[in-house]
This record gives sequence, C-alpha cells and structure tokens, in this order.
Amino acid sequence: MENKLILAIETSCDETAAAVIKNGREILSNVVASQIESHMRFGGVVPEIASRHHVEQITIIIDQAMQEANISFGDLSAVAVTAGPGLVGALLIGVNAAKAIALAHDLPLIGVHHIAGHIYANQLITELKFPLMTLVVSGGHTELVYMEEQGSFEVIGETRDDAVGEAYDKVARTLKLPYPGGPHIDRLAASGNPTIDLPRAWLEADSYDFSFSGLKSAVINTLHNANQKGLEISNEDLAASFQESVIEVLVEKSKRAAQEYNVKQFLLAGGVAANKGLRNKLTEQFERLGIELVIPPLNLCTDNAAMIGAAAFVKLEKQQFATFDLNGNPGLDLEKE
Ligand code: KG4
Ligand code: ZN
Repeated sequence: MENKLILAIETSCDETAAAVIKNGREILSNVVASQIESHMRFGGVVPEIASRHHVEQITIIIDQAMQEANISFGDLSAVAVTAGPGLVGALLIGVNAAKAIALAHDLPLIGVHHIAGHIYANQLITELKFPLMTLVVSGGHTELVYMEEQGSFEVIGETRDDAVGEAYDKVARTLKLPYPGGPHIDRLAASGNPTIDLPRAWLEADSYDFSFSGLKSAVINTLHNANQKGLEISNEDLAASFQESVIEVLVEKSKRAAQEYNVKQFLLAGGVAANKGLRNKLTEQFERLGIELVIPPLNLCTDNAAMIGAAAFVKLEKQQFATFDLNGNPGLDLEKE
C-alpha cells in the first residue's frame, strides 16, 4: 500500500496544534502550543485572546510539524482541519491556514469534527473493533457515542447541562484552585475520603443522558453552609466526594451502554480521560465485564492535532473532501458527519 500522509491542524479552543499522520495510525509529528498560561489569570478561556494567539502561532507550529516529520508539502495526500465545534474565531484560524495550504499545493481539504478527533485518538493506540462505544468527557462535552463502523457516529446520551470538565473547573474555582481545575481536584481527591453525601443524577431509568449542574451546586452549597456555621470542611474530602459521585454515574452508564449495544471495544476520550479515579474505576469494571477497554495516553486525551489526522484518514479513504467554502462551525453535528 502506498503511504498516505495527512497534515492535520487543530485550533478549536486554547491549543494551537499541527501533526503529520501516516495511514491514519502512525504519528510522524505532533506539535501542541498551549495557551493555558495566558488564560489562567482570567479563570477560563477568553475567546479573543485565544484567536490572537492562534494567529501568532499557527504558521510556526505547522512548520515545526512538517520539519519534525521530515517531509515537504508535496509528500502530503491531504490537509485536514477541525471544522467544529469550538470557538468560531479560533476555528477560523485553523480552517483558513488549511485552505491556504490545500490551495497552494493542490491538495484535498478535509473538515473534521472535534469529537470524532477525540474518539479517533484511540486509533493511534490500537486497531478499532466495531461495533464500539466511546465515553467522551472533556471541558465542553460529555457524551456516549456508539459506532457501528468506521466514520459512523450515534450519540446515545449527552449532558443536559454542564460538561464534566466544566463541573470540575467550577468546583475547583469554588475551592480557589487554579484553572484548569480538573487535575487539582483529581489530586486532592486521591488524599481524601468520600465522607460527604452528594447527589447522583441518574435521570430516567433507561436514559444515557447526564447532568452535573445539580452536583456542582450541591458542592458549592455544602461549602457555603459550612463557612456560615464556621465549620471546618476538608477540601480533600469534598473533592473525593464530588469525584466519587461523578465517576459512579459515568461508569455505571458506560457499563450499561457497552452491554446493551454488545460492543467489542469501549473507548475513553477527551481531556477528563486524564482523571486517575475515572481511569482506575473503568479499568477495574471493564476487566470484570470482559470487554476490551482502550484509554489513550494523556497527551492524546487533551486537545491535539494527531487525533484530527487519525479521524481524517477515514474521510480520505472515502474521498469525503470539503470544498473551499468550508467554514468554522461552532454547532457542527457529529451524527451528520
Ligand atoms: O478535551 P480538553 O483538553 O478540552 C476540551 O475539548 O474541552 O478537556 C479539558 C478539560 C478541562 O475541563 C480540565 O479541567 C479537564 O479536562 N481535566 C481533568 C483532568 N485533567 C484535565 N478533569 C478531571 N481530572 C483530571 N485529571
Ligand atoms: Zn477537546
């Protein structure tokens, strides 16, 4: 088989990233410039600042990815880019860079859904086996996605309010921890005990949807009440209790979905997949079920362009190319991909 190289670009949020991927499986380069430091003092991502950083970084990062892969534009089979969802001003920087390269070097252009990218990060680890189920947990998304075959996505459940990562970040903020708060809560939780009673939103018995805003409010109320009464409350125990509630719901629904859909593989995807508590619990429970569980290494869980290149390969094989009117689309629909 002739080797097919894809240059992939990702600028949907606060990471400027470019990668070169061979045959949808092999990483030749994977460069990520994080902007976290610039957004930290605001306690979250500021869209205008994100766009400005992307403009400053994009050509440098693309050059670096091409150099590390040791190839020239003429060696490429296609250029891929995250087309959505994400911040529109941020997406546009990547989309325009991809269009310029595609036009200048007469290459096919491929638009990729950001969540398809997170899911396909797993294809850089192992061969995907269908049908499969993925739990996508990130700062903007919490979804259970069923895949019957390559490139087909059915969202069987999603959050009705906050995404998991968003709930982590808000609880962390209440505990006066730096942004992004997920890793800090994870660390605190490891040294605490889940002694505080917090709610679990199971929703309707057969639902695969999620809800985390009630839990987030319960944590904030618990802290406020303790403060008003002058009671000491352990941040470690509160973090452990919050994390236990989140993980219990995520893992139970994941197990039920994997069994009901009779899947061959279960994948974890998105930034919150870095959570140690979640990784451990899923590993233990899926071992018991006898279903293969795949969890990418941390650098492929958080936003990167390698995952976009992996997802784009499926579209390259199917010749599903974008036209030059491709635009950044904050509301891009995964199921219509
Ligand atoms: O996928 P991602 O890098 O960006 C989005 O597409 O949203 O996910 C970022 C999110 C943040 O909310 C961050 O707090 C969370 O992932 N996160 C974690 C951990 N590491 C990152 N949440 C819980 N535990 C962690 N260890
Ligand atoms: Zn992401």
